This record gives sequence, structure tokens and C-alpha cells, in this order.
Amino acid sequence: MLTEGFVPTEGFVAILERLQRDSDRYFGASTIAIEPLAHFQRRRSELLKVRIRAGAGAVYAYVKRYRLESSDPAERDFVTARVETDFAVTERIHRLVAGREGLRSVRPIACFPDHLAVITEEAPGELLGRVLKRSAWLSGGRNFDNLCTALERVGQWLKAVQMMDGPPGRFSLDEMRDYLDVRLVRLREVDAISPDERQAILDYFDEQRGNVAAADLLEVPIHGDLCPGNVLVTGSEITVLDLAMTRPGSMYTDLTHMYTHIESDRTKRWVSQQKVERLLRATLRGFDRNLSPSKPLFALNVLQHLICKVAKLATRPPKSRFDAAYKRYLRGQYHARVRTLVRSGMDLELNSLVTQ
Ligand SMILES: Nc1ncnc2c1ncn2[C@@H]1O[C@H](COP(=O)(O)OP(=O)(O)OP(=O)(O)O)[C@@H](O)[C@H]1O
Ligand SMILES: [Mg+2]
Repeated sequence: MLTEGFVPTEGFVAILERLQRDSDRYFGASTIAIEPLAHFQRRRSELLKVRIRAGAGAVYAYVKRYRLESSDPAERDFVTARVETDFAVTERIHRLVAGREGLRSVRPIACFPDHLAVITEEAPGELLGRVLKRSAWLSGGRNFDNLCTALERVGQWLKAVQMMDGPPGRFSLDEMRDYLDVRLVRLREVDAISPDERQAILDYFDEQRGNVAAADLLEVPIHGDLCPGNVLVTGSEITVLDLAMTRPGSMYTDLTHMYTHIESDRTKRWVSQQKVERLLRATLRGFDRNLSPSKPLFALNVLQHLICKVAKLATRPPKSRFDAAYKRYLRGQYHARVRTLVRSGMDLELNSLVTQ
């Protein structure tokens, strides 16, 4: 039975009915009551938060329905594959992190690829993005120490996930360069960079790639969207969400994604530089105590994230005049960071971060 109150949108009804029909399998109870609590619209999905009562107990869960942008069967196949990846990786990671100190995982409940839906138990905590924003006002102390430990655990989580797979393939720097240049061409088309700048960025890439160690080119499973909006934090414990984009990639892709997010706070005058450095250092330390951000492949991954940011900000239509102004401001910040990186490398700015 669906509890009265919040009315789920049409697409969710069939999913909830199926959960009820097979309640024995998913909840070990022959009858359950599902109460929709809240509905969220996201760019790539919509989510329904529900409470599921089975016997005397209750479970909170998220029903995530992936969105289709067209009726093209190829898109449906692509998104169906994402749904299946999301659930399969959630199951694997749930087993992988069980019992590891400070690492939590989302418990998978059900996957209905025909409805483009994945159902997971609610993980506790607050999004890392919000905790980071608040931390700008913290004057150090226990909460800030907890946040550093949480970021160290993000690094540890990444390391554990990278070890999860069997014999690795080789990561292709040629493909990385092509990927980067597609974005540079797009930026040229909207006149956001000059021909000389495009060339300078590619020259920087070519110079760095000559120094990439062969051992760094092992291909590993990557999350694909490891940003502060996809990590939940409780105290110093973390849960990583949103595993649909997991695929093979470079060992520094996820780490540098998180790194560039945190690092973007450096430009905010009200944020203590020392604190940003502690957060960055903790993230790197969790992954590898000896990792220096000046490692060539690390620097190339940072470059790629920065260019992707600039390209997104330059080409996605703004939602309002305020949004347009904000996007212009952010784009300027990321663009300046690209220029510094290409001119001076990672060493100059980040010397203080090189871990002992
Ligand atoms: N199992 C869960 N436990 C706790 N919160 C969850 C869970 N699943 C989803 N959420 C919440 O819903 C939000 C969106 O989920 P998710 O990141 O999987 O969707 P998305 O379509 O990828 O959204 P976005 O593109 O904004 O990242 C999360 O940021 C989180 O707040
Ligand atoms: Mg997400």
C-alpha cells in the first residue's frame, strides 16, 4: 500500500508497486508500507526519498530514476548500461569497504533496468560540498580535524577501489590529448581562447607527457564524478555516492577531480589558504603518502579538469542574468588557473603541498 501524503510522480508508481510485489525478496517481509517523503529533480535523474516499513522496523531509501533526453533507442541503451553499472558497482563497493575503518557504503536494494531505476538505502551524513563551505568559517579545532580525516578517507577509498580489479590495461595519453583538444576546439569556436593559447596548452601537455612514468599509466577503475557533491560525511566517516559513471581511466582522474574542487577555494579571499592546503594535503596523503602534485600525470589530470570546467562554463547556456555573470566569474577563475599551470607548472604554486 502507498501511504497517503506525498504523491509520487507517474514514473515512480510502477517502481514502488514492484518493490511491494517482491517485498519478500527486497525486505524479507511479505507486506510493507512505502511512504514517499520527498522528490528531487536533478540534471540526469529524479529521486524519490521513501520510508519503507516492514514489520516493526523502517528503512529510508532513495529511488533514483535516470532521465532520457530523447526517444532515441541508442540513448536508452546507453542509460540502461549506466543503471546496471551503478547497481553492480554499488554492490561491489558495499562488499569491498565492509569493515574498513571510516569508510561506509550505500546498501543496494534493487535495480530495475527497464524502469531505469536503482533503489538504495539512505546513507547517513551531509554532503561534503556543504561541509567544505561551512569549514571556510571554522577556526580550526575538532570539526576541522574531522574534515581533514574525512578527506584522507576519500583518498583511501580511491586507493581501495583502484585495487579492486584484476590485471589492468594501459591508460592512453594519446586519447587524453584528443579529449583535451576537443574541448580546446570548442573553446576556440566560442572565442574563449586564442589560437596561441590552444597551442601553448597542447605544448605544455606534450612537454609533461614526456616525463610521465610508465608505472603511472596503469589503467584503474575510476568513479568518473568524484566531487564534493557525491560524498556524504558524518564526523570523519565518508560514503561515496553515484557510481554510475565508473569506468577504466587514469589513477589520478578522481583524485585530481576532488583536488581541483577543493583548490578552487584558494581564490576566495575569506578562506584561509593554510586551511585549504591542509585539506588538499589530507586528500593526497590518504591516497599515497609520497605523492607530489608536481607529478607529470597528476598535473595533466589537473589540466584536463580545469579545461573541462572552462569549456562547460563557456558553452552551457546560463539560466538567468545572474547565472550568466556568476558563470563568467567562475570561468575567469578557472581560466586564470590554467594560465598559471601552463606558464609555471604545479611546482611554483604547490611547493608547500609536496608531502614528506
Ligand atoms: N543512498 C543514498 N543515501 C543518501 N543520500 C542519497 C542516496 N542516494 C541519493 N542521495 C541524495 O540524492 C542526491 C542525488 O543523488 P545522485 O548523486 O546519485 O544523483 P545524480 O543524478 O547523479 O545527481 P547529480 O548529477 O546532481 O550528482 C545526492 O547528492 C544525495 O543528496
Ligand atoms: Mg550525484
